[in-house]
Amino acid sequence: MTVLEQFNKDGFLVLENFNTSKACDDLMLRGKELAEGFDYSGHPSVFQTDNQTRTSDDYFLNSGDKISFFFEKDAFDEIGNLKKELFYSLNKIGHAMHDLDDVFNHFSRSPQMKELIQVLELQDQLLIQSMMIFKHAQIGGKVDIHQDATFLYTEPGSCIGFWFALEDATIETGCLWVKPGGHQTSLRSWFKRKQSGGTEMIELNAEPYSMEGMIPLEVKKGTCIVLHGLLPHYSLPNTSGRSRQAYAIHTINKNAHYPKENWLQRDMSKVKGF
Ligand code: FE2
Repeated sequence: MTVLEQFNKDGFLVLENFNTSKACDDLMLRGKELAEGFDYSGHPSVFQTDNQTRTSDDYFLNSGDKISFFFEKDAFDEIGNLKKELFYSLNKIGHAMHDLDDVFNHFSRSPQMKELIQVLELQDQLLIQSMMIFKHAQIGGKVDIHQDATFLYTEPGSCIGFWFALEDATIETGCLWVKPGGHQTSLRSWFKRKQSGGTEMIELNAEPYSMEGMIPLEVKKGTCIVLHGLLPHYSLPNTSGRSRQAYAIHTINKNAHYPKENWLQRDMSKVKGF
């Protein structure tokens, strides 16, 4: 079976030793530098006001073309002070580092990525979104089961994700869980902008996900996991004493329709392939 046939059959691929240990370390170092240089005074998560949901939404909705910082839930106390130091209060960075930062750009568009794109016949994919996910020791929370196409909806569907382990991912540190062949299903929901502002989740199909046959993808640092946009996946909290940093990029087909109602809006003249 070719790599492409395997991907089409399972809806995911696990590619070990995809990135060197040094490349992973360099990316984590750059992520930490960006995080530590972030001036969070005035960040919408800081102050508990009546407008908080709205301003947090706006910060999130305007992050498409930027390097923005997102806190863990409950990172702040009642008077707006961080409970832990800044780096350990952050959940992730997003959503355009791959276009704005040299280190992230090179990692996202590495020679082995260009080769993988050829092998998977994804030459028409555009790199629309990137995320640095910290999943700190004892802090990183769970991510509920979802399909990535919910957040990057196109007609026809075309979302493909690439998830890079920057550190070992185990059950205890909160690795990904998937079901082989699970992508052969319909899209359940669409996360979109409301006309009145903010966001909403639109149900497209109420059928519950089948959890039977879910397997943990315990992978070593340097592994690349390719995820089909319809493949349901989730991760558990990091209950260990080690962090589980990961970097993810998501792509869509340049010929597919990308609705202006999608939560993630970018200046499409800046969105490029590999
Ligand atoms: Fe996901």
